[in-house]
Amino acid sequence: MIYQKLLDFPADFLWGASTSAYQVEGGWNADGKSPSIIDRYEHPAGYADFTVASDHYHRFEEDIALFAQMGLKAYRFSIAWTRILPEGTGKVNPTGVEHYRAVIRACRAHGIEPVVTMYHFDLPWCLEEQGGWANRATIDAFEAYARVLFTEFGAEVKYWLTINEQNTMILHPGAIGLPKGGVLPSRKTLYQMNHHLMLAQARVMKLCHTMCPDAKIGPALNLTAMYPETCRPEDAIAAHNWEVLRCWNFADVPVFGWYHPLAVRYLEDRGLMPEVQPGDRETLAGANPDFIAMNYYSTATIAASHGDASDVSARAGDQQIMLGEQGVYRAAENPYVGKTKYGWVIDPTGFRYTLRKVCERYHLPILITENGIGAPDVLEPDGTVHDAYRIEFYQQHLHAMREAITDGVQMLGYCPWSALDVVSTHQGYGKRYGFIYVDRGEEEGGSLRRIPKDSFYWYQKTIAENGKNL
Ligand code: BG6
Repeated sequence: MIYQKLLDFPADFLWGASTSAYQVEGGWNADGKSPSIIDRYEHPAGYADFTVASDHYHRFEEDIALFAQMGLKAYRFSIAWTRILPEGTGKVNPTGVEHYRAVIRACRAHGIEPVVTMYHFDLPWCLEEQGGWANRATIDAFEAYARVLFTEFGAEVKYWLTINEQNTMILHPGAIGLPKGGVLPSRKTLYQMNHHLMLAQARVMKLCHTMCPDAKIGPALNLTAMYPETCRPEDAIAAHNWEVLRCWNFADVPVFGWYHPLAVRYLEDRGLMPEVQPGDRETLAGANPDFIAMNYYSTATIAASHGDASDVSARAGDQQIMLGEQGVYRAAENPYVGKTKYGWVIDPTGFRYTLRKVCERYHLPILITENGIGAPDVLEPDGTVHDAYRIEFYQQHLHAMREAITDGVQMLGYCPWSALDVVSTHQGYGKRYGFIYVDRGEEEGGSLRRIPKDSFYWYQKTIAENGKNL
């Protein structure tokens, strides 16, 4: 649709940026924090680990002051469960609580809205040892953790995100790290874990509505539209298969209270349907999210299955690089989109398309909680970082979002990935996303100095103009 005039970004639009605790904080065992699964996973040799990361745990005041200088209206960060409840449940660690109280206070002091993710991949290791998400007891532990968060921070936090990228954790479990020995749970177990995560999320959303009636809460999923490779009807069916299984099935449960019908048939047919106990359906029906939070990086292009092992590409995949699944879909190339150095599709129009689909399906406001481009940014001898590719990426995606707003999509805000450089999930500091460069490499020992990149100044201007001159 071509319009005579694009609508403006809303006056109260949350211009923000994101991080997650384990990727940015460091201080992995500071002040009573216990290890999470991330701290216990095998770490690929040659890449920065998460022990020091960007040292945000000790430098958050300086960082948040820089975010304010950039003009951020929102900061999306996650709370490490292991700082709040080192034993996973039970005894609260007051130092952990005080840390996040200080982070929230610093945000508020600078007029920045804290947007808090409760869980970003970092399950307490002690809970993992008891079966992790495969154990129904972890549902109770998550609710108990949420109760502490709502009690301690409920008065100050108005936007809560339950679980980051549940679909990545279930569908691409290797993308966030490998357990020691490299053995991932079976697919049957993964879908049982998924069911428990859904129940935990529903209970926590309900609790939030009871304990913090003025706050809003939503799931944070990695959502992306799928294109059929051609107009062949079988390609369209395959694209729909994967769009449902990868995206809508994960958002339907919190919004509609049950799994997508196609996903149910897929799970039953393959013997993957989770065990559902009496009362589970009622629990899921009680979630009622206030908005959909969405991480968007790429679209994917999909072709019909051949029905044999050739459906699965012989290459490494991750949360954005689709591999194919036998009897479901094959991954195809799209000649009309760009690609990052790491093979992630760059598709701003696909962003508008995905936003339209989410809006049409759920009729809820949308908060972007991640979007961005990873690159090996270079610190020049004169202390500058020229990331023109990132400016171009953001300019195009924000323009597409403005078009989506004009299409009628209700947008709450935009929190791209990432506010400052963080450790990438599996490519260390070689793959950077921040508006602010952090002076360190794969080895510990850099100065950790913060250096605003060119994109920092571009975003500052864009925010000041409320996105009028994109
Ligand atoms: C998202 C995750 O999937 O992608 C983030 O929520 C992650 O934690 C981001 O960092 C970028 O991925 P990567 O692998 O490049 O770090």
